[in-house]
Amino acid sequence: MRGTTKANKRLCGLFLIIGQLVLFATTGSAQTVTIPIETAGHALVLQVNNHKDLNIIYLGKKLAQKEEYGLIPNSYRQYSDYTGLYNSAYTPSGGRNLLEPAITVTHADGNNSLDLRYVSHKQTWEGEGVSLLSILLQDPVYKFDVTLYFKSYFKEDVIEQWSSVSHNEKGNVILYKYASANVCLKADSYWLRQYHGDWAKEMQPEESRIIHGIKTLDSKLGTRANLFQPSMFMISLDKPATEDEGYVMMGSMEWSGNFKIDLEVDPQNNLRVIAGMNNYSSPYTLKPGEKFETPAFLYTLSGNGKGEASRKLHAWARNYKITDGKGSRLTLLNNWEATYFDFNENKLVELLKDTRKLGVDLFLLDDGWFGNKYPRNDDHAGLGDWEENRQKLPNGIASLVKEAQANGVKFGIWIEPEMVNPKSELYEKHPDWVVRQPKRDEYYFRNQLVLDLTNPKVQDFIYGVVDDLFSKNPQLAYIKWDCNAVVYNAHSAYLKNQNHFYIKYVEGLYNVLKRIRVKYPDVPLMLCSGGGGRVDYGALQYFTEYWPSDNTDPLERIFIQWEYSYFYPALSSSNHVTDWGKQPLKFRTDVAMMGKLGFDIVVSKLNPTDLAFCQNAVKTYDAVKHIIFQGDQYRLSDPQSNSVASLMYVNHDKTTAVVFNYLVNNRYEEGSKMPVRFKGLDPAKKYRVKEINLYPGVNSSIDTDLVYSGDFLMNVGFNPVVNSGRTSVILKIEAAV
Ligand code: DGJ
Repeated sequence: MRGTTKANKRLCGLFLIIGQLVLFATTGSAQTVTIPIETAGHALVLQVNNHKDLNIIYLGKKLAQKEEYGLIPNSYRQYSDYTGLYNSAYTPSGGRNLLEPAITVTHADGNNSLDLRYVSHKQTWEGEGVSLLSILLQDPVYKFDVTLYFKSYFKEDVIEQWSSVSHNEKGNVILYKYASANVCLKADSYWLRQYHGDWAKEMQPEESRIIHGIKTLDSKLGTRANLFQPSMFMISLDKPATEDEGYVMMGSMEWSGNFKIDLEVDPQNNLRVIAGMNNYSSPYTLKPGEKFETPAFLYTLSGNGKGEASRKLHAWARNYKITDGKGSRLTLLNNWEATYFDFNENKLVELLKDTRKLGVDLFLLDDGWFGNKYPRNDDHAGLGDWEENRQKLPNGIASLVKEAQANGVKFGIWIEPEMVNPKSELYEKHPDWVVRQPKRDEYYFRNQLVLDLTNPKVQDFIYGVVDDLFSKNPQLAYIKWDCNAVVYNAHSAYLKNQNHFYIKYVEGLYNVLKRIRVKYPDVPLMLCSGGGGRVDYGALQYFTEYWPSDNTDPLERIFIQWEYSYFYPALSSSNHVTDWGKQPLKFRTDVAMMGKLGFDIVVSKLNPTDLAFCQNAVKTYDAVKHIIFQGDQYRLSDPQSNSVASLMYVNHDKTTAVVFNYLVNNRYEEGSKMPVRFKGLDPAKKYRVKEINLYPGVNSSIDTDLVYSGDFLMNVGFNPVVNSGRTSVILKIEAAV
């Protein structure tokens, strides 16, 4: 709504503008505009002060009386902050500001100062329950604009924030910092849950109090950006939130490249969260008339702990973000750990038969099927040469796809199209397509280099790899898209301005993925990065699922999957049964069932009982997977602090639920000494509890004749009887009729 500030009469009123409440208040001659963004339970309230600065005056529980938002600033007596900018909605630098800025620029005339004043705002409806608020800010001295976007998802309490920068100065402007969002929170204390990791050690949590100064979460790795630290985090206000108590914000960047999230507790004890792409090595040159748009920073809020916040994110992701979020997922047999690079057509034909025998939907052919001059027989060669290896596959992929059809299963394939081995024809033909410093030695990550996706020709090549596979094999049903190297020696032979490399790389990747999705909107794609090196919602909007970790030891996986589950719904988590770990097959299978089930084992080597168990497990899974995929997830017993980990999925009608329980501590007599309290059931309903996925010949100690009220199961709980003789137990809860 442009020009609202023209209204200059003495008034304290309330207007409804395209569904958006805007409050005007006048004190003396100054007028303030208050803009609340409300979702089902929370509100982000912006206010324009008499200097036309746009501030965040509130982020918290929604108030019943909307008119009262305007009164919030009066309730704080935090004294002067010397700048009037501590709670700026987008802190400019080089003027009054004394804290971490959201944006830093050098203007065309060399001046480093920026001031951003409110000009106008408007709100549009983007669909049921989704609205987009945009606020235009302008520098009063320079022809320099910033538009802030706030997309809110009412039911899910999710907000996505991003910004767009443009100018009409007489030359280029350099952007030194360009955050997506600058959020302000007020509390007595702030508690951060953050994650670190490495290959096979993803999502290791750490929790600490955020003290005064700046705590930064960031990545400078380029491609496999989340390898050491993902952008997902949680902030609890006043005290660390538990699963069901406490005020918590969960946030992350929707960006698959370098990111930077600064958490600054300012001198007045406010928390400022400044999140965006990392400006590391990336000052951006913006021409007059050009637009620079940042990716979104996403967050949700809950006053009822981490569990509720995560369920909101799951709902949002399924409803709006992940490809086919409301659909189902294919079970599969993958050959990676069964064969590694050592296979040929005959072996694969046998594996296709095993796929059918196992009863899963699809066979996934992993790394090693390509390269002729430099065959891909290990990870030193062939990457980039995407033709079938004639020795291993003399009849090509096409014959395998046919063979799969003959076996009544689908066929999927692994690619890593962003990468190249120096030992490849692609590298020989197109050295200029490779990210490397022309005058320096190459440095490798897994013996490979990254292709320069800033170059449209490389984008065409990568799109072509996928398009070619589908054109030649229209029945191809699945792609696993891997990404195993970080960026060393960041340099593009294509770009004129090397400072744009990291940003343009990710934009190039998204261009390719967008093109793929336009032509192949439904095909399942797995997002893999040597494990979970690249899980974020920027990428996941093009994918149906992700690979959390190459570590498939089920004990480790319980912890890894647990932490990912705060941010991503179970249907997106690809979990495979492998030979990692010391746990029995049942334990390994039960853990993999907590998401999208797959197998990566040598089926032909299973003894008859193990095989029968796996075949039944697939059937059992097929019967309950809709609850795991689309139900509400509740964490019951945390493996970090208990000997038994328990996690539950409940359907929306509260008539059926599945509870997974695992022994995670092998010390003497450890087990489920206490009942596990269920959640999410209807207290008034009666339920029967049954153990499922039993190993052949094993009888359950659970009495299925007993009927319990939801009230009982949620207040007293139920003992799954987990102990050293029953290390994993899956329960199905069904409403008794
Ligand atoms: C890394 C992936 O995480 C594995 O699952 C496998 O696909 C290998 N790459 C293949 O090289």
